[in-house]
Amino acid sequence: MSSDINLTKLFWNVQFIYELVLAQEELEAFNIEYQIVNNLRSFNVFNIPDEEEFIKRTAYFEVVKGEPSLYSKITKANLTRSINQYLTHWYYPYKGKFHPQMIRALLNIMKVEKGETILDPFIGSGTLALESQLMGINAIGTDISEVCTLISKVKTQSLKWLPNIQEECENLSSSIGDIVEDSESKIIKEISKLVESIKIQEVRNFFLLAKLIAHSDKSRRSKKSFKKSFESNAEKMIESLNMFNELRNTYNLDLGETEISQADVRNLKIPSDSIDGIITSPPYSIALDYVENDKHALSALGYDIETIRNEFIGLRGSGKSKIDLYNQDMKIAYQEIDRVLKEDKYCTIIIGNAILNKKKIETIELTIDIFKNLGYTLVKNVDKIIFGLYNIMQMEKILIFKKE
Ligand SMILES: C[S@@+](CC[C@H](N)C(=O)[O-])C[C@H]1O[C@@H](n2cnc3c(N)ncnc32)[C@H](O)[C@@H]1O
Repeated sequence: MSSDINLTKLFWNVQFIYELVLAQEELEAFNIEYQIVNNLRSFNVFNIPDEEEFIKRTAYFEVVKGEPSLYSKITKANLTRSINQYLTHWYYPYKGKFHPQMIRALLNIMKVEKGETILDPFIGSGTLALESQLMGINAIGTDISEVCTLISKVKTQSLKWLPNIQEECENLSSSIGDIVEDSESKIIKEISKLVESIKIQEVRNFFLLAKLIAHSDKSRRSKKSFKKSFESNAEKMIESLNMFNELRNTYNLDLGETEISQADVRNLKIPSDSIDGIITSPPYSIALDYVENDKHALSALGYDIETIRNEFIGLRGSGKSKIDLYNQDMKIAYQEIDRVLKEDKYCTIIIGNAILNKKKIETIELTIDIFKNLGYTLVKNVDKIIFGLYNIMQMEKILIFKKE
């Protein structure tokens, strides 16, 4: 009982076992009967209760019963060569971000519906906010770092201001054209002044991010001058927004709202029992130094690097005390997460065990224990490879908990 009519194909980039697991979970979430064919890359599907919805929402299937999925079209609105960097996902070179395709699949597996609200209290570069927006789901994103809240806002809230941004870009290029390029520091000061004087906050944020990307280019010793880098970043960012606009109009996308703010996860300004789902990846204890990574951008925003470190989970203390402080902080963070999540809803944590002085730090086990004590059931526990990013960690876990 197999025919090409039923053929449903994975995206060409799906290559890891965890992706295949999530693809199967997607089919299960939509109550689809299936059979795997063709060396695990294709599936024969026999019964799709809501085919239209599946074509709109699936993350891992490029073709559903011979028809291209909506996601296959979304991922083509891409200025970069990387499949993950479509639309505004590429804005700012943030280290350790989620794979957007995985987030889309998790939203399906957790059955978060259009119009509901999802939270990421460690929003980082805003991957969850943009992915949920594309599915019509509202997102709340918070982070301790202003660089992160800025990136997340600009990625998800600039589209509404596209005509103003385009107009401002023209004004800026004529003002910047008048600046005499005698010293780089003078140019940075002049560009900062011009950006600060932009009246509409969303438009100002857009150009502030273009400037922070130029700082980041400079810190990576780009050969481009600061002025060139700022101008070309802004232009490319606008090109992506135009693609976003076209995509929204062509496919009649009903985008979800996003609310992004700076907050400490240990004290969220969110009402209790108000959130329909959480997907987050906490700081990886000692594996990644988020302040060091974004040092240039945080300094450009006026932060004192040493003072700010104390507010970041995983950066306080040293040696064993660092781990103890991390564990204490994460316990408080998870209690706060529990407070805001509604009953019967899912919370997904993506977390790995780092190695310190050749000893494994058991963050995964700690996370499972805390959630069990809070009354959650671990409904899925998926091994996920970390590909080419850290040498300190090779694997992490996708832990899906249900608040019973
Ligand atoms: C693993 S990253 C999140 C990456 C994100 N999933 C993405 O796709 O870009 C962890 C984040 O935790 C944030 N963070 C650290 N301490 C925090 C705290 N006390 N409150 C809120 N966020 C914090 C860091 O700024 C960092 O952005």
